[in-house]
Amino acid sequence: MAIDTGTTCAERSSAIDALHAATALYTSTPVVEALLDRMGWPDADGRLLDPSSGDGSFLVCALARIPTPAGDFGALGRVQGWEMHPQAVEHARERIADLLASRGWTEGDAARGAELVAHEGDFLTADPRGTFRFVAGNPPYLRWGHLPQLLKETWSPVLPDFARGDLLHAFLDRSVSIMPEDGVVGLVTSDRWLFNATTTGLRRTIGRKAGISHLARLDAATSFYRPKTRRKNSAPRVHPVEVVLRPLGEDMLELCGRPISPDGAFDEAHDGPVLADVATVKLAPWLGPKGIFLLGSEQARALPDADLLPAVDSDDIDPETDVLGQPTRFAIRTTRHAEPAGAVREHLLSSRGRMPKRGRLGRWWMPPEAITLPLDRPAILVPRIGRRIRAVRLPAGVLPVNHNLYVVAGQDGRSLDEIEGILLSEATQAWVARNAPRLEDGYLDIRAGLIRRIPVI
Ligand SMILES: C[S@@+](CC[C@H](N)C(=O)[O-])C[C@H]1O[C@@H](n2cnc3c(N)ncnc32)[C@H](O)[C@@H]1O
Repeated sequence: MAIDTGTTCAERSSAIDALHAATALYTSTPVVEALLDRMGWPDADGRLLDPSSGDGSFLVCALARIPTPAGDFGALGRVQGWEMHPQAVEHARERIADLLASRGWTEGDAARGAELVAHEGDFLTADPRGTFRFVAGNPPYLRWGHLPQLLKETWSPVLPDFARGDLLHAFLDRSVSIMPEDGVVGLVTSDRWLFNATTTGLRRTIGRKAGISHLARLDAATSFYRPKTRRKNSAPRVHPVEVVLRPLGEDMLELCGRPISPDGAFDEAHDGPVLADVATVKLAPWLGPKGIFLLGSEQARALPDADLLPAVDSDDIDPETDVLGQPTRFAIRTTRHAEPAGAVREHLLSSRGRMPKRGRLGRWWMPPEAITLPLDRPAILVPRIGRRIRAVRLPAGVLPVNHNLYVVAGQDGRSLDEIEGILLSEATQAWVARNAPRLEDGYLDIRAGLIRRIPVI
């Protein structure tokens, strides 16, 4: 009997190890902070639960926002985490204890306090006590078929069919099912559950109780980190989103079974014109490293026969005024059908060795991305990365480079001033803040497709 129990414990522990190895993809602090902001933690009363707390990022950030006077164990009850993997729980407790110690808790009290916050347990079978107005976290994503057999056997009897395709589905379903009337669920998830046909039942069930009040893509490269022990393995490929679910009400996206696109989810109701109807939006070319097609002033002077265009990047823009400075770079313009001769030929051939492989795919005298922007008229440059949309006026003939966005007036007769007005309007800035994928430190990933979809009101 004793041996049986021992074997079961070992099996369980190795199943949990395997589960953790497959699902531990921890959330970076800027993403956690932004999600807590969106959820309004801790503006309202109530407690917060992270159902799969890993090394405790959500717990630490949530606790850091509320007062926890030294020795006040009751104050810690507002933030609670569940995690199955013992080492991860240990790690979370250490981080929480560090936070408490930095707030004047004694070492012993801080360690005891941390145990009251980070629980070792299974969110899907345990019953976290009491009501949680806030559920925040990044649940595990793992297909049912990839689960260790022991965990399939544990969860099969407690999970409804529609929540069994992936562990994420079970967490979404349970998080919403425990949501009180004034609750809010803020999760980082992979995007598939929003539009796959196999998750129709899940969307429908969640949708009876909650709608989506915020949905935006996250940047997979900067939103996560792996536990130290897992760094050697490659991280799973996910397309992450942040999603905030609230009890049904106004101004939210209905979850009724139909697929939801994370791209521009909130502008679906807009059937009027979008920026692409009144302006042309293009991506500025990448010409390779400086010194080949893109020259400094001195290099440019040494090539008097070259067809040179003043070229600008985001560092040419005054960060306070968004006014363009005097261009200090020049781009060599070449055409496909005319092989350059003389000094231009010599320069391009001799510098070609410095062009990275991905830029050397075509003719040697053509840059990696051709210059096709309509440069014969004034335009607006919108930097690709920013905390908001910035609109920088460009005179005709000035070439933006390095994937900045280039906007010129379209056929419908709107002036560039009017287009600038649309880009800089409060409505547009708010729409972009909702729809652009987030990068670190409050920066947004502003792509051509996003700019083209801006509603013109
Ligand atoms: C994607 S990580 C997220 C960790 C943390 N919330 C964060 O955002 O940094 C998911 C974690 O869920 C844990 N986990 C998996 N199944 C669980 C369950 N049924 N109950 C509690 N934790 C679970 C895994 O061990 C893993 O550490």
